[in-house]
Amino acid sequence: MSSPQPFRPDPESFDKLYRGEPAFEGAPAPTAIPWDIGQAQPRLMEIEALGGISGAVLDIGCGLGDNSIYLASRGHSVTGLDGSPTAIEKARTRASEVGVSVTFEVADATNLTGYDGRFDTVVDSALYHCLDEPGQQAYAAGLYRSTRPGARLHLWCFSDGNVNGLIAPIGSVTESNLRDTLTANGWRIDFLGPTTYLGNYVAFAGRDFSKGMSDQMPPEMLERMQEVSSRFEKISDLLDGGTVYLPFNVVHAHRVD
Ligand SMILES: C[S@@+](CC[C@H](N)C(=O)[O-])C[C@H]1O[C@@H](n2cnc3c(N)ncnc32)[C@H](O)[C@@H]1O
Repeated sequence: MSSPQPFRPDPESFDKLYRGEPAFEGAPAPTAIPWDIGQAQPRLMEIEALGGISGAVLDIGCGLGDNSIYLASRGHSVTGLDGSPTAIEKARTRASEVGVSVTFEVADATNLTGYDGRFDTVVDSALYHCLDEPGQQAYAAGLYRSTRPGARLHLWCFSDGNVNGLIAPIGSVTESNLRDTLTANGWRIDFLGPTTYLGNYVAFAGRDFSKGMSDQMPPEMLERMQEVSSRFEKISDLLDGGTVYLPFNVVHAHRVD
């Protein structure tokens, strides 16, 4: 019997997570959303402070909307798109609770029809590593169509590096994948390198990912998730605010005219 393919969650499995259900059969029920830290990502906030965000902004794969809400609170015009209707509903609630105006809509990042020529800045905070390779190609091409000439792209995704011994649970993306996919679809890379992303350690620590998931994931992927969970558990008493830095790469690119 052949081993399962590397796991890439689909939009329906994300929606289940946001509803508080196991993402797929055999998975444990979520204790938290791994990327829900209740605030914008620190690295994104720094980019904004440094002037890296301008014009009409697309936050693609916006999830619960905290990055969009932060950028809107800083005066930007922001559209947040996500494939999960539940995430979009919750993002709208979060925005209205803080009195910030963001356009949140359900959309598939691999099929961005209806958004042609709309955006000057794209923020991708942890979406790209969720897509399989054909999805990444379709996504990069769709981003080109939905932006204006000279548009900027800031993309953060899991790397295979580590932060003080902490490693990515799944889905790290190679630098050559990023370079090849983006340049083939009309993006020029200005910088690609290591950075960090703040995750919610509660979602990982002390979980047993081995039970019932062997049909969905190859053994080495399950082992990695177990290893990540055990490392998080060991440092949990040392963490401030239940969050943990994870190894990411960031790409800053611009659209070639
Ligand atoms: C790891 S989460 C990151 C959420 C948010 N950007 C953040 O940093 O908190 C990835 C998000 O991408 C969304 N997503 C995954 N595949 C997608 C697709 N094909 N189209 C649109 N959204 C997608 C998921 O629903 C999820 O909300």
